[in-house]
Amino acid sequence: MTRSSAPGKVYLFGEHAVVYGEPAVPCAIERRARVDARRRDDGKLRVNSEDLSLNGFTVEYGANPDDQPDVDVPQSLVSAAMGYVDGAIEQVREVTGEADVGFDVTIESDIPLGAGLGSSAAVVVAAIDAATRELGVTLDTDELAERAFQTEYAVQDGQASRADTFCSATGGAVRVEGDDCRSIEAPDLPIVIGFDGGAGDTGELVAGVRGLREEYEFAADTVEAIGDVVRNGEQALADGDIEELGRLMDFNHGLLAALGVSSRSLDAMVWAARDAEAYGAKLTGAGGGGCIVALDPTDETETALSFTPGCEEAFRAELAEEGVKRLE
Ligand code: PMV
Repeated sequence: MTRSSAPGKVYLFGEHAVVYGEPAVPCAIERRARVDARRRDDGKLRVNSEDLSLNGFTVEYGANPDDQPDVDVPQSLVSAAMGYVDGAIEQVREVTGEADVGFDVTIESDIPLGAGLGSSAAVVVAAIDAATRELGVTLDTDELAERAFQTEYAVQDGQASRADTFCSATGGAVRVEGDDCRSIEAPDLPIVIGFDGGAGDTGELVAGVRGLREEYEFAADTVEAIGDVVRNGEQALADGDIEELGRLMDFNHGLLAALGVSSRSLDAMVWAARDAEAYGAKLTGAGGGGCIVALDPTDETETALSFTPGCEEAFRAELAEEGVKRLE
């Protein structure tokens, strides 16, 4: 058996706009998905996950989707999670040339699903890494990131940037612009995360922004303005200027809200962080629900969030210097 882990991420800047070629800066955080892979010779994929908000189930499936058991969570969540794992294993079969190999896959994750922290990318990166190594093949980080991106791209019907998967594979802070992904220097960031317990529908939210952008020039300008904020953010990161970073995150949140991807609970958490005198705060990821990211070296934001209606969990997250980790 082999075991790999990969981190989740927050977007410091640039989600949504990255879909239209603007740069984005995600940053890996020490919240991980861990995947165990064991080879099976009957070609089946058997997945066991207690943490993917799937309340612990094991599923065996091959060609027939009816093989999936009844579970007490929405079937759409089950199908999505299974789609990512299945897609990851397809990549493994392709890259190793073992077209008929099966796996027992066990997933543990402390990244909430669909909440803007890159849970699916972390699962896909760790799954591809563990399963390829189980077959004696170790991919370099670029190939791992590329295979993970192809998986997300297929599962999300072509609506995925390289940001999540590259960041999860390499760790640290990264800059993504189109196909160009690279690691960048970042100071030690005092990251606080607020989670509303919910999730947004990435496909729907991306489609919403696309529609606005096509209909209104000012929406297209808003997307470009996010790109400008990102470029300023990169400079602030390079200068280690956390105050400026926070100010730019506030600006980024306002532009995302203008594009209709914030929500009442995300706004409430952002305002709680601002009231607590965080350097800045914004939603992270697709939005619609899920998480915000704030910068605050004191305990004030975490405390304020714990009293904010709509916030279910607040926690501090260290930057994850290391991306994929090979554990066994
Ligand atoms: O919610 P997440 O972590 O999957 O982030 C989505 C980010 C988008 O820019 C909205 C889409 C993408 O693939 O870049």
